[in-house]
Amino acid sequence: MSTARGEFSSRFGFLMATSGSAIGLGNIWGFPTNAASNGGAAFLFTYILMAFSLAYPALMAELIIGRHTRANAVGALRQLATGPVSRKIGTGVGLAGLITVSLILSFYAIIGGWMMAWMFEAITSMIGLDTASRWLAVDAVPRNALFAVVFLALTIYIVSAGVRNGIEKWATRLMPSLLVILILLIIYVFTLNGAMAGVRAYLVPDFSRVANTGLIVSALGQAFFSLSLGVGTMLIYGSYLSSNENLPQTGGIVVMLDTGFSFLAGLLIIPAIYVALATGVQIYDDAGALVAGPGLIVSLLPTLFDSMGLAGAVVGLVFFALMTIAALTSSISMLEVPVAYTVESLGTERRKTTILIGSAVTFISLTIVFNFGVLFDLVVTLTTEYSQPLLGFFLAIFVGWIWNRNSVLQEVQKGYAGVEHSLFWKIWPFYIRYICPLAILAMYVQ
Ligand code: PHE
Repeated sequence: MSTARGEFSSRFGFLMATSGSAIGLGNIWGFPTNAASNGGAAFLFTYILMAFSLAYPALMAELIIGRHTRANAVGALRQLATGPVSRKIGTGVGLAGLITVSLILSFYAIIGGWMMAWMFEAITSMIGLDTASRWLAVDAVPRNALFAVVFLALTIYIVSAGVRNGIEKWATRLMPSLLVILILLIIYVFTLNGAMAGVRAYLVPDFSRVANTGLIVSALGQAFFSLSLGVGTMLIYGSYLSSNENLPQTGGIVVMLDTGFSFLAGLLIIPAIYVALATGVQIYDDAGALVAGPGLIVSLLPTLFDSMGLAGAVVGLVFFALMTIAALTSSISMLEVPVAYTVESLGTERRKTTILIGSAVTFISLTIVFNFGVLFDLVVTLTTEYSQPLLGFFLAIFVGWIWNRNSVLQEVQKGYAGVEHSLFWKIWPFYIRYICPLAILAMYVQ
């Protein structure tokens, strides 16, 4: 069974898969709306600080554990445990991560489904299928259920093909196209009336807001979600990375790619909001706050595209394709967590396991669709605001306090001879032992 463990074929493959996991709706949807409602550049600035000072060390912890143990989160933490108590905690944290990420997938698929529905709406409106367009544009249970299922089916299809032939292959195909699409869209939006006011709102900082605790907490939460931390995703991807790779450097590139993408997404979405304003679309809600979250992406932008005629339909198609691709390369990394655990601990066959677990997630996802008002926000809050940071805390404790420091060093030395004299090794061990747990705890209390 252990001989069947997957491994990424190259550093590039690993980078595409890992940044594919990191870059998702969190970047293109979460980051710009957070920035728009938190003072633009003030949020950007705080976010970059949080990403490099706190999320990067936590990402490194997961990658190092994964590569050292070559196991899924549950197996990995059990290996690192030094006694019965830490073994129990390790099992608990691993399993909680697995449940959390499955629940994240179940709501993420609903949003991914909306993106697909809008992508098809752009096509039907281009060819004049008005009835179909109307059906696709209205937020209703049958539509949402159908597309959540389609989105999950694609996710299952890719994951069932394995690490190299599924995850790596598709991430390597999709991630470069994502970057191209994003840049083309930015260039296009910049040519529209009103865009420059958005660029100013995004990039001219209001420094009076940087020290605001609410903003710091949102930035840290956003960074944790965006880097897929705490739930064993980065851990399992790390476990598929070759021992010849330099981990601190590779992890640094992932954070840079993820942050760079968020920055670019802000450069698309915030100017687009101002373009909408210039064309007379309502961008403030009844309470006078900027339309953010679901309202922004699934009502404001479609209204804007609609007002632009055929060009709008093309841009809408490209935009929602961008969203769908970004969501898919993240959702596959979520499903990999429970699949890897089951395959490794029960020795089951990968394809069947993926279909079985994927179906269970689909069932939960549909339950949320049918009880949207009660369940959706609840599941989002529970998983991303409570569970994810708490699990990140425990992972930091495992690496900082339970795992033997020399053994950690030996793992990092693989692929990076002389790391013990590097800046990384001067700072990171201290960070993961004290700063990360304390900062997460502080965020939690907030
Ligand atoms: N990082 C992904 C995003 O930004 C979400 C994600 C969270 C992926 C947790 C995997 C695990 O959209």
